[in-house]
Amino acid sequence: MNDILVHQENSLLTLTLNRLDKKNAFTQDMYAALTASLKAAEDQSEVRAVIIQGQETIFSAGNDLADFMDAATLGPDAAVIEFLQTMARFTKPLIASVCGPAVGIGSTLLLHCDLVVAGDNAAFSLPFVNLGLCPEGASSLLLPQLMGYHRAAEALLLGEPFMAEAALEVGWVNKVVVPSEANLVAKAWGMKLAAKPPSVVAQTKALMKSSQAQSVQNVIHQEAQVFARMLTEGPAKEALSAFLEHRRPDFSKL
Ligand code: COA
Repeated sequence: MNDILVHQENSLLTLTLNRLDKKNAFTQDMYAALTASLKAAEDQSEVRAVIIQGQETIFSAGNDLADFMDAATLGPDAAVIEFLQTMARFTKPLIASVCGPAVGIGSTLLLHCDLVVAGDNAAFSLPFVNLGLCPEGASSLLLPQLMGYHRAAEALLLGEPFMAEAALEVGWVNKVVVPSEANLVAKAWGMKLAAKPPSVVAQTKALMKSSQAQSVQNVIHQEAQVFARMLTEGPAKEALSAFLEHRRPDFSKL
């Protein structure tokens, strides 16, 4: 599909988010396309690393907000959940190159990548509470582990964006560069990884992940259940209507 560009060069598979007119907001079809590419990459021995990237001005505005109006598409069996579970289970190295805003799942998916390079214009934000929603992608588990409880609360309760340097400081990203270099750094990392013995790389990743792999799957599932319920409740309805009506949400009566 055109909203996800798939490019394989030697041992590197690159998945490019390409829905620029909607700031790379993810649709159900985009999740399904990403999942299909990742699953195919697992089975293809010639693929040794996968890069996920956006454009120099935008990584992703997160889930398509119009899709949130249709709660049925976001239940536990939804394409987004399969995408997150596939990312979390992926056995080969996953690299992300992030420039510009990375909102919601645009930020949480990074928690399932092994290496992240950010442009100095990157801004990571998890505005779930502001949308009347809860964290997803196992971020309620992984974010406090990554950066400590208080900084995770800053990100998840206040919904404050973390700029690239702050994300580097808390370990959300590995490296910050000028935006025009981000994809090149990701590619260089991918080529380095592709030159290493794949079984050893995979085993090393598995050892780092195995102690809480099941917990991560469970939390993705639990968060999805709460998220689906919240989509039907007052705060999310008000926040999503406000977005579509280009006004500020009013939570004062809720
Ligand atoms: N879902 C659907 N459409 C979205 C979207 C989203 N998550 N984010 C942006 N868009 C659309 C806008 O509605 C607009 O469409 P239009 O041109 O048809 O009116 C277009 O993308 C451009 O968005 P705009 O807000 O004008 O771009 P910007 O550069 O000023 O701001 C963002 C970029 C990402 C900061 C801003 O779009 C934003 O905050 N989006 C919502 C993010 C969000 O809350 N995501 C959900 C997380 S759970």
